[in-house]
Amino acid sequence: MRNTILFLLSSIVLIIGCKDGVKVTGESTDGVTSKEEALEAKAAHPGKGLMERECYMCHNPKASEAHMIAPPMAMIKMHYLDSTTTKEQFTEALVYWLNDPEQESRIPNAVKRFGSMPYIPYPEKVIEQIAHYMYDHELDRPDWFANYLESDGQGAENPLGKYDYATTGNAEKRYANKGLGHALATKAQLGRNLMKAINEKGTQGAVEFCNVKAIPLTDSMSVMQNAVIKRVSDKPRNPKNQANAKELEHINFFKEQIASDNSVEPIVEEQDGEVNFYYPITTNTLCLQCHGNPNEQIEPETLAVLRNLYPKDKAVGYGINELRGIWSINFETDSP
Ligand code: HEC
Ligand code: HEC
Repeated sequence: MRNTILFLLSSIVLIIGCKDGVKVTGESTDGVTSKEEALEAKAAHPGKGLMERECYMCHNPKASEAHMIAPPMAMIKMHYLDSTTTKEQFTEALVYWLNDPEQESRIPNAVKRFGSMPYIPYPEKVIEQIAHYMYDHELDRPDWFANYLESDGQGAENPLGKYDYATTGNAEKRYANKGLGHALATKAQLGRNLMKAINEKGTQGAVEFCNVKAIPLTDSMSVMQNAVIKRVSDKPRNPKNQANAKELEHINFFKEQIASDNSVEPIVEEQDGEVNFYYPITTNTLCLQCHGNPNEQIEPETLAVLRNLYPKDKAVGYGINELRGIWSINFETDSP
């Protein structure tokens, strides 16, 4: 059962991925794109996009030394590969790690600096694609990486050793990580259930899933992860998800960041032994079936169900890559 869902989810990811590919080839048949470009588009590995979408929000090679919240992928590759490692072994190691990131680390300095990687339920197919891409391709390296290689991961040049949060007491990065982990795990859970509902009952039927299950599912993730996990919006569908004044401020800030194409970083606020964490939720093609323009992306039957369940629905008219809302997550600070 679990495998079927995983398979469905990953095949949808792939279908969405393929759509982009189709568009590229479509353009090239107009004779606008050169043959080389068409070949290059064809060669684009699906694992690349998946890695950038699923892993870069923490493992971003562009983050400065001070802003990193996890080691860059190139560093991970270096610690998981030697001259004898086969692609199968590398893939297996990555799948094994992601299924249980509490296990013994191959980069203990990374755990010391960033805290452990939160468990995020990625479909195995997705991890495999990412692993294949990582194995076969040169990965982007941060500027400081040359020094790291020279120091062989040891010594003063090792940026992982430079910031010891346990001693400096600067826990912000650790909290950013923890918050992102909560958000992503919940997103994966919601996403998986949504895909399943759409596959089984169509978009219109899936609306009922969101209506009945979205809040309870988020709540149950809260209980499991010992945090209060909410999705809130300036234009909510369900009035219970209306953002408060503080959250609206952060929503406006994230909107500006996205509009000016800046990379978005989580907001972490610490007060009285509690952490408030905020991170954007943006739209993709899938979302428009229920949050796009009425009678265009939202089909009449779906619209009818929505209007019936949410007479005050504000959550329509979105395009792709717009801010649909934010994660607003609260948890306790680590005990000293
Ligand atoms: C929410 C943030 C976050 C996301 C998202 C994330 N990671 Fe991590 N990851 C971390 C942190 C923090 C560490 C460093 C701690 C550690 O090594 O245990 C880490 C470490 C790792 C390691 C090193 C394991 C070791 O031996 O120490 C691997 C492999 C890894 N991540 C793979 C991935 C892949 C692949 C993805 C995307 C599918 C991903 N991670 C997404 C936060 C994240
Ligand atoms: C099948 C229809 C459907 C799809 C597809 C869908 N949603 Fe929703 N969405 C809903 C419904 C229904 C609610 C109200 C849930 C409730 O009552 O708690 C909702 C609520 C939300 C909320 C909470 C705030 C609010 O407006 O109440 C966010 C955030 C959200 N959706 C984001 C997304 C994103 C991002 C995607 C795409 C990845 C997406 N949705 C895809 C139907 C859908």
